Amino acid sequence: MRSIALLTSGGDAPGMNACIRAVARAAIQGGATVWGVQNGFEGLLSQRLEPLTSRGVAGILQRGGTVLGAGRCEEFFQEPARLRAVEYLRGKGVEGLIVIGGDGSMRAAQALHRLSFPVVVVPGTIDNDVAGTELCIGTDTAINTAVEAIDRLRDTASAHRRAMLVEVMGRKSGYIALMACLASGAEMVIVPERPVELRRIFDEMQEVERRGKRHFIIVIAEGARWSAPELCRLINEADNPYEARYTVLGYTQRGGSPTASDRILATKMGVAAVEALEEGRAGVLVGWQGGQIIVQSLDQIVVGPPGIDEALERIAAITAT
Ligand code: F6P
Repeated sequence: MRSIALLTSGGDAPGMNACIRAVARAAIQGGATVWGVQNGFEGLLSQRLEPLTSRGVAGILQRGGTVLGAGRCEEFFQEPARLRAVEYLRGKGVEGLIVIGGDGSMRAAQALHRLSFPVVVVPGTIDNDVAGTELCIGTDTAINTAVEAIDRLRDTASAHRRAMLVEVMGRKSGYIALMACLASGAEMVIVPERPVELRRIFDEMQEVERRGKRHFIIVIAEGARWSAPELCRLINEADNPYEARYTVLGYTQRGGSPTASDRILATKMGVAAVEALEEGRAGVLVGWQGGQIIVQSLDQIVVGPPGIDEALERIAAITAT
């Protein structure tokens, strides 16, 4: 393959830069020209492609965000826009496109694949909600950010005998929330995939207080039935043993230097994406399953949330006692 384009799409995720670096260096080493598309799919429509060089991607491995810029492009969901993009790429001699992004990016890539343009998807999103992979680039860093925050918040919760609600991101996925709960030892996790009644939360609070704990930490995913401020109000309006406070972690989880795990995953996936194109295996997702990189056809992937891991939910419930 002589010419490859690369873009980062959707919300930025820590480790995207590590993947850009890996893609650029692997492709250049294989003899290809690499084009960085600015600002996601929008950059294909506004024709903003810049050549990437091995030296040009130096020093970005450890940086959060994405040097290419990211974004969500509604227009790209229209067929005429996609046809325009394909025409532009072909006219420029680009033979393959690597898309680093989440759920929406996967859908856009699948549409390009249906237009017979060679595309490879690398999952990059803190939400970890891309079908076909157990892990996405950025998720590990986001979980670590949430855990660090919860560790700090527990100090104050314990000092004041409070319930502390910590809202984490994840769109409709409870993955960050569940993992952050496991890793921080929070007393409760509330996720969109498992609706919970207010009564159960109150009962649990009574029980935890009876056991003598000075804090009650709830990790709440942003897509859950209540936001952290709403649930906080409901707790404080009822007769509960802990007075509640809340913290919404928001975009702090999207930024920051990627963890070593994210850098390694991103690097492995980036090289695998280039190799897939070089081997003529386009129309695929590079994913992570069973402890290794896998490459699977986009035709086999049904886009939708992967669901919550019941075994981990059980472990979280056991260890929170
Ligand atoms: O997909 C990543 C994510 O941070 C979600 O967790 C969140 O729901 C959404 O993006 C926020 O999007 P925006 O950057 O458009 O506000």
